[in-house]
Amino acid sequence: MSTLLAQTNPLREGLRTEATAEPCVVVIFGATGDLTRRKLMPGLYNLAVDRRLPAGSSLVGFARRDMTDERFREDMLQAASTYSRTQPFRPSVAEQYGEGIRYVRSSFDDPAGYVRLEQVCTELDAARGTRGNLLFYLATAPTAFPTIIEHLGRCGLVERRSNGRSGGWSRIVVEKPFGRDLATARELNEQLARVFSEHQVYRIDHYLGKETVQNIMAFRFANSMFEAVWNRDHIDHIQITVAESIGIEGRGPYYEESGALRDMVANHMLQVLSLVAMEPPVALDASAVRDEKVKVLRAIHPLNTAEVARRTVRGQYGPGAVNGHPVAGYREEERVSPQSNVETYVALKLLVDSWRWGGVPFYLRHGKRLPKRASQVTIRFKPTPQRLFGQGDASWHHPNVLTLRIQPDEGIGVRFGTKVPGPGMEIRSVMMDFRFGAAFGHQAAEAYERLILDAMQGDSTLFTRRDETEAAWTIVTSILEGWRHLPPPEFPNYEAGTPGPRSARDLIARDGRAWARL
Ligand code: BG6
Repeated sequence: MSTLLAQTNPLREGLRTEATAEPCVVVIFGATGDLTRRKLMPGLYNLAVDRRLPAGSSLVGFARRDMTDERFREDMLQAASTYSRTQPFRPSVAEQYGEGIRYVRSSFDDPAGYVRLEQVCTELDAARGTRGNLLFYLATAPTAFPTIIEHLGRCGLVERRSNGRSGGWSRIVVEKPFGRDLATARELNEQLARVFSEHQVYRIDHYLGKETVQNIMAFRFANSMFEAVWNRDHIDHIQITVAESIGIEGRGPYYEESGALRDMVANHMLQVLSLVAMEPPVALDASAVRDEKVKVLRAIHPLNTAEVARRTVRGQYGPGAVNGHPVAGYREEERVSPQSNVETYVALKLLVDSWRWGGVPFYLRHGKRLPKRASQVTIRFKPTPQRLFGQGDASWHHPNVLTLRIQPDEGIGVRFGTKVPGPGMEIRSVMMDFRFGAAFGHQAAEAYERLILDAMQGDSTLFTRRDETEAAWTIVTSILEGWRHLPPPEFPNYEAGTPGPRSARDLIARDGRAWARL
């Protein structure tokens, strides 16, 4: 069936690829946590189902919980069967991969644990042909990152692998949050640099693994018609929205430390912004792409307190209803302070001070417990210079709008004016719509699958480079600083299930503009 479809639909050609990575041992620190069960293990299993995972690839869980190899293996296979996108579950694939699953029980600061880890990896090399290749994955709470990095350095494992004595390589994937401000992000970068070279470090931002986010570059640079108007001469403003209907999903302690700005803007949203605003890279490799992205972030000047007051809005949800179901307010969530002033909504106006973007505002908004889930980039073009159609109130002045829908309804829409059939020259705004699902008809790999595979293959294009993280934190830290000096807003200031605080509407309305309808 799939061969037939590939023959009849040219869009489906090349969708199935074979593994090109070398087999390696993935060592997950914090392997008993939610991320491993929900994303990493199902991702590895899906790669195996799609025949993208090299034979022999293995997994070592490293965590404090008391567990045998067998129990950990069972848990992992159970996680794969529950959360993987490829269904029905394929026991034969799971069994093959399962033979390479091991567990090391240790606290992160016990040198003996790292000695055992090396023994287990060496055994796997011999038994499964992983050739000394090691991919460390930091999936613990961020407080454990420094200890693990330090011990990896001290035990000599990284050095032994990366200087080629074992013939293999070692790399490290670092989960978010990557620091909590510029100073802590710099410190973490320093710690990493003491043990790993930059080319071994993979700072993960799962938004970059999303097909629709990668497609921003394809859309812009594989087509000549859009790039020609992608600048301040033609674009009035750009909106980036990440709306979520979920709340904090039981992650009270994490969210109390983080808040919406750190959780979504410092990473995912500024990454999307840099893809939208970057200049064409000279090549599609990790250096060239990231060189251009970082220039965008550097062109966004840090905000002073007055700018923070004018150009940012914070919100926090109170009780309300989402999709007809009553939900608690943020302050009533589990393990959240009843007086918490942590923001669950943020709206910003950012300016990219560059030749291309001078004077074009970028409005960003993100919130939890909004009426629906929708992530999109909205590019609003300038109106036509001549009011040719209609007169007075009836004059046609609706500008073109291009919407890049990241999720859930993945696609691209262009809104344009068209003549209403019939006598006269009445113009109406209509939508031209492209849907990924309809065009390609196949389920895209999940972000984590793509990113794990890229890390195995040594391709860091879709991971953030050291200078990018620091440039992003420079912007975000200026906002956090500004908020520290400003009186906190009266929280809660929006009801769960509504589109956010009124002040967010005012932020954009002051400029004579409005948020795109979701
Ligand atoms: C995570 C945030 O990084 O991204 C969560 O910590 C958020 O708070 C999630 O819900 C959103 O990811 P996605 O892929 O569902 O848009």
